[in-house]
Amino acid sequence: MAEDLSIAQGTKEEQYQALIPQIQGLVDGEPDLIANLANIVAALKEQFAWLWVGFYLVKESQLVLAPFQGPVACTRIKKGQGVCGTSWEKAETILVPDVEQFPGHIACSSKSRSEIVVPVIRNDEVIAVLDVDSENLSEFDETDKKYLEQIVDLIM
Ligand code: SME
Repeated sequence: MAEDLSIAQGTKEEQYQALIPQIQGLVDGEPDLIANLANIVAALKEQFAWLWVGFYLVKESQLVLAPFQGPVACTRIKKGQGVCGTSWEKAETILVPDVEQFPGHIACSSKSRSEIVVPVIRNDEVIAVLDVDSENLSEFDETDKKYLEQIVDLIM
């Protein structure tokens, strides 16, 4: 059984650097995708206390809600729709400093002010996206992009 997560203090960079080996330890040797996604969102939510952290899985022509932590959320998103559907379509990370300025943003929670969505790419195909929402404007930057991309690479 896994031990408690050790919560790091310090800069955002230091927090990610302490968290990533722990996430690696949680997913190592576990082949079940849902189990790994569930532990990754739990670890991120515990470390950073963001409003919402979760995955959407690509299922046929839509993104479908998968393990998450935070308020209830929309269950299905079409390709090209919202921040998540745009990240899927472009197969790239999207940083949104102010959700009100993103055309087509899907407001699952009225509390969300900024957002980052990172695609999970396997064999050149987007298989899922990691979505993180914050109650603060401009919460996410290139540091989050760098480390969240490393974290989704840990998923088998
Ligand atoms: N805001 C997202 C929808 C998902 S929720 O934030 C959990 C979007 O525009 O795609």
